[in-house]
Amino acid sequence: MAIRKVLRMGHPVLRQRARPLAPEELGSDRIRALVDDMIDTMHDYGGIGLAAPQIGESIRLAVIEIPGGPTRYGVVEPLPLTVLANPTIEVLDETSAGFWEGCLSIPGLRGYVERPQHVRVEYVDLDGKPHAKELVGFLATVFQHELDHLDGTLYIDRIKDSRLLAFDLEYERYLAPRQAA
Ligand code: NI
Repeated sequence: MAIRKVLRMGHPVLRQRARPLAPEELGSDRIRALVDDMIDTMHDYGGIGLAAPQIGESIRLAVIEIPGGPTRYGVVEPLPLTVLANPTIEVLDETSAGFWEGCLSIPGLRGYVERPQHVRVEYVDLDGKPHAKELVGFLATVFQHELDHLDGTLYIDRIKDSRLLAFDLEYERYLAPRQAA
C-alpha cells in the first residue's frame, strides 16, 4: 500500500487510450497492489474517484467511492468503494444535466460540464465477476468522468462554455449554487 503521485494535466499518459486488462491479470498480485495504491491515493488526495492512468498506469481500471457525509461536491448520494476493471458504458437517456466537476489531475479548478444523466455501466471486479449498474444524476456524471480518463479524455474537453471554468476559491465565492436560506 502506498500513496502515489497523481499526474497532472500535461502528462502524456493522461491523454492515452488505456489498454484492457487480460482476464489472467485481474486477480494478480500486481493488479491487487495497484488497486490498493489507487484507493490509498484517492483517500489521501480527498477524491471520490481515481483512474489508473492518473497514477501513470495506462490500463482500464478505476476506483470510485463517495462518502455519506459532505464532499467537495456538497452532500451527494453515497456509493461504497467500487473497483471497476474493463468498464463499458451505455447511455440510456441522452437528457443531460450539468455539474461543476473537479479532477485530481487538474488541481485547483472546477468546470461546468453537461453529461447524460442515465447510464448503464458494465465492468468486472478483480475476481473476474461481471457487474452491471444503472446510474442516474450525479453518480452518472462521476462514472462518465472516471471512464473518460481511460480514453484519454479530461473534463475540460467537455466544457462547452470556457467561461464556466474557475478556480476553487472563486467558484466558492461567486459561482457555487446558493443554498436556500
Ligand atoms: Ni478526473
